[in-house]
Amino acid sequence: MYPFAALTQRVREMTMRGLDVINLDVGSPDMPPPTQVIEALAHSSSVSDHHGYAGYKGTPEFREAVARYYQRRFGVKVDPEKEVLPLLGSKEGIVNLILGFVDSGDTVLVPDVGYPSYSMGAYLADGDAFFVPTPEHLGYTPNLDAIPADVLERSKILWVNYPNNPTGATVDTAFYARMVEFCARHGILLASDNPYCDVTFEGYRAGSALEAPGALEHAVEFISFSKTYNMAGWRLGAAVGSQSALKTLLNIKSNMDSGHFRAIYDAGIIAMDTVAQDWIDERNRVYQRRRDLILQALPSIGLSAHTPKGSLYIWAKTENGDGVAYAESALVDANVSLAPGEFYGPGGKAYVRFSIATPRN
Ligand SMILES: Cc1ncc(COP(=O)(O)O)c(C=O)c1O
Repeated sequence: MYPFAALTQRVREMTMRGLDVINLDVGSPDMPPPTQVIEALAHSSSVSDHHGYAGYKGTPEFREAVARYYQRRFGVKVDPEKEVLPLLGSKEGIVNLILGFVDSGDTVLVPDVGYPSYSMGAYLADGDAFFVPTPEHLGYTPNLDAIPADVLERSKILWVNYPNNPTGATVDTAFYARMVEFCARHGILLASDNPYCDVTFEGYRAGSALEAPGALEHAVEFISFSKTYNMAGWRLGAAVGSQSALKTLLNIKSNMDSGHFRAIYDAGIIAMDTVAQDWIDERNRVYQRRRDLILQALPSIGLSAHTPKGSLYIWAKTENGDGVAYAESALVDANVSLAPGEFYGPGGKAYVRFSIATPRN
């Protein structure tokens, strides 16, 4: 089972017993989307012929809006017809991409530590996951030298994710250029999971893997409305990049789902075309204040952490190296739900993860 599903169930049971649990585990934005996005949903859903299937590839207008977003936000020009595919939330696309690429005997290169769906997707596809170390001293970037030659031979996809869940680490454009070059050399697809590109602090602006030379041939990137526009429950995202990778993904998806409700696409267009950077900056300032509050408290509760420049998380190291025991004690003794670092791979043993997507009171 997905690690969070069991924790969420436990918190629900505690709440039903009357306990006031402070939930700092999952990264589900607590603030609403911009008003015009909600209005666009209401407007589009009131149109009588907007209730049929909207297409396996979503609407052309939505794909064009994603292409405009890439041009404006990253300076990357993509073909909305062949290089953009809407998703029912990026998690769906992540797992379906793996299902499309991986068979028994194949391997997926997943960061240790990283978002659990990369390895879970590999197992669902009857493949293997190789946990590539992303040590603190490399700024939580993958140590590619640690991948054995025979594993590399069997590998189909390399996952990267910056701003990173769970560590909050960020990278520069040169990093993506190195990853694209590595993947091109070994015949591997680079999959860049980029849902936190617009959740950044102190003026830091995250880039896209698709800015790197050759990326449109060797990489696919996932963006999400969940965190950029506080729309996690709407389940809207997009995969952008390699035409052949998107074809494979569409092959799986068109047999599995029939796209989203038209009104969701229409509201998504309004989000991408009209939400001002000021709205994003203001929202990020709220997250930043929460980040700083938690960082300040960490030394007094036996934890230490770097200051993240992006994402919704603080990756805090325990003194005794046992994140599972720390999270258990926080839950049982203080009614505070944290994510044990182990959820994110063996390299997370000593850590707990705090989410800043929870209001102060
Ligand atoms: C790194 C990462 N990728 C993907 C997702 C999934 O996001 P979505 O809501 O778009 O499915 C999350 C959600 O927390 C995440 O942290």
